[in-house]
Amino acid sequence: MPAGSQQMVEAHDLLRKFYHHLLVNTNEGQEALEYLLKRGFTEETIEKFQIGYSLDSWDFVSKFLLKRGFPAEYMEQAGLIIFREKDESYFDRFRNRVMFPIMDHQGNTIAFSGRAMGDDEPKYLNSPETPIFNKSKTLYNFHQARPHIRKKEQVVIFEGFADCISAVRAGVENSVATMGTALTEQHIQLLKRNTDQILICYDSDSAGLNAANRAVNMLQDQDFSVKVALMPDNLDPDDYIKEFGEKSFVSEVIGASLTYMAFKMHYLRRGKNVNNEGDRIQYIEEVLKEISRLPNAVERDHYLRQISSEFSLSLDALEQQQRQVFFTER
Ligand code: CTP
Ligand code: MN
Ligand code: MN
Ligand code: MN
Ligand code: MN
Repeated sequence: MPAGSQQMVEAHDLLRKFYHHLLVNTNEGQEALEYLLKRGFTEETIEKFQIGYSLDSWDFVSKFLLKRGFPAEYMEQAGLIIFREKDESYFDRFRNRVMFPIMDHQGNTIAFSGRAMGDDEPKYLNSPETPIFNKSKTLYNFHQARPHIRKKEQVVIFEGFADCISAVRAGVENSVATMGTALTEQHIQLLKRNTDQILICYDSDSAGLNAANRAVNMLQDQDFSVKVALMPDNLDPDDYIKEFGEKSFVSEVIGASLTYMAFKMHYLRRGKNVNNEGDRIQYIEEVLKEISRLPNAVERDHYLRQISSEFSLSLDALEQQQRQVFFTER
């Protein structure tokens, strides 16, 4: 472990408890608590995810940590405090934000993300990469989700904190989040040790769909069984649950998730009008390419038949073209 790691983790765990206390027990935290309750967070989820509040102060945390003997150098490396050249003093990174602690896979607090309650930018302020926090290796909520992932033999991946938390509240306890970054090979290796079934549940806006498509490609290449859950009208999972309820989320989003090919067809069809000949030919070519990536001959046959009947094309012609694609693609 790099020098100071232990003290960095200790400071994070201490601050997690302190921020949480401020949120749930103090007047200073009142506005943040109201913000969360109004968004649909419950006391139970606030507890379970140890959500907190950072004071509207320039140096409260700096003083708090230094007074307790934590070395300034390590606290700065850990991203909790920032050195100011001008007057050679330290100030706090997180001020007046709702604090989401980020745990490692043992449950140690290793980073924070602070959400602005109004329109302050950035919306989420995150810990930087530090000796104890590597975003591309960390999945939010993995330590709590792991036993559920193993039991359900599936993991559900979200983009955001609020999505993951709302899903857990809805009973989808095998939920983790990538915290806005793209899914990495390290995330995938971590998941692979626990399950081979992955459900992608990203925001249903165009950024989310593109990210889902990219994730699906990586996962298919690694022989996962992958599905994608979609929501209507650009909603994200947290918005959906707020609007349509937890039950509907479980049955109509999670329960109606699309297989790899069904998602690909949906994705490739976006922005195309298949009544238009050019679009239609392009769509069919793209779908054939995807069919050729399927490892299973029966599945390939199934989707060829589906395309054949949907567009009244002879199966022979499709098979011929698909074989061409198959050989040029591999
Ligand atoms: N994110 C971030 N920094 C930002 C914006 C987003 O780190 N400035 C990360 C957060 O982890 C966030 C995730 O990306 O949860 C997804 O982003 P987005 O969909 O924009 O946010 P939501 O999770 O929907 O946030 P909220 O519901 O609080 O508005
Ligand atoms: Mn508590
Ligand atoms: Mn998003
Ligand atoms: Mn979102
Ligand atoms: Mn959201």
